[in-house]
Amino acid sequence: MGTRQRLILLGAGGQGRVVADIALHTGLYREIGFLDDDPAVADTGLPFPLLGSFSEYGKWLGEADFAVAIGNNAVREALQDRLTAAGASLATLIHPRAFVASRVTLGAGSVVMAGAVINVDAVIGRGVIVNTCASVDHDCRIGDFCHVSVGARLAGTVHVGDRSTLGVGAVVRNNTDICADCMVGAGAAVVSPLTEPGVYVGVPARRLYPDGAN
Ligand SMILES: CC(C)(COP(=O)(O)OP(=O)(O)OC[C@H]1O[C@@H](n2cnc3c(N)ncnc32)[C@H](O)[C@@H]1OP(=O)(O)O)[C@@H](O)C(=O)NCCC(=O)NCCS
Repeated sequence: MGTRQRLILLGAGGQGRVVADIALHTGLYREIGFLDDDPAVADTGLPFPLLGSFSEYGKWLGEADFAVAIGNNAVREALQDRLTAAGASLATLIHPRAFVASRVTLGAGSVVMAGAVINVDAVIGRGVIVNTCASVDHDCRIGDFCHVSVGARLAGTVHVGDRSTLGVGAVVRNNTDICADCMVGAGAAVVSPLTEPGVYVGVPARRLYPDGAN
């Protein structure tokens, strides 16, 4: 977790507003501000000021923690990698009403939202979103820049590769591996390993398209 009292969030859309609210509830930050390349977001009733575009992050290096609050995994990865290369301090944010068990590791830039449960010995990579009321059970390993969406459920010892998304309400059987760059659709049930990138839907989950980028 970062150590400063100012937080700069890259992304002022829905994800940005949720992450800002988590930061507020942690009580760790006295000042929060957004960066976004779309100046029109300033007119969307932001809870904190829009301070500039993404490329202006350098103004706060050494003075603030940073988090990338963007749902798209590849975009989040690219921006977080830029921040890391610049030496930025990255926040890891956990909503006070999430439950994170003992011996869980959370990578830099990851965020755990309200009602989420992460059980013992889970390893969560960098820049991961564990969204509202999602659960990640014991010994799961979630790769970098994944998204466990609202209400998704991962039973014990599920391994998920980098940049994969588990869609809203998806479930994954215990001891199941999901490779990198998969998009598991809303409500899908993964009951056997997903070994190739792609978009998977249904019960049981089957591949809809080969391109899982999201
Ligand atoms: C799987 C998904 C990525 C596909 O999106 P898409 O490429 O735009 O696909 P479309 O909506 O064009 O649907 C294509 C077909 O797949 C079906 N389909 C789409 N999503 C499905 C799902 N989750 N389960 C079952 N079938 C699905 C559609 O009904 C459609 O079938 P048809 O061709 O017989 O009409 C998307 O529907 C989805 O589930 N996204 C998850 C979103 C999410 O959870 N976000 C997280 C927010 S926290």
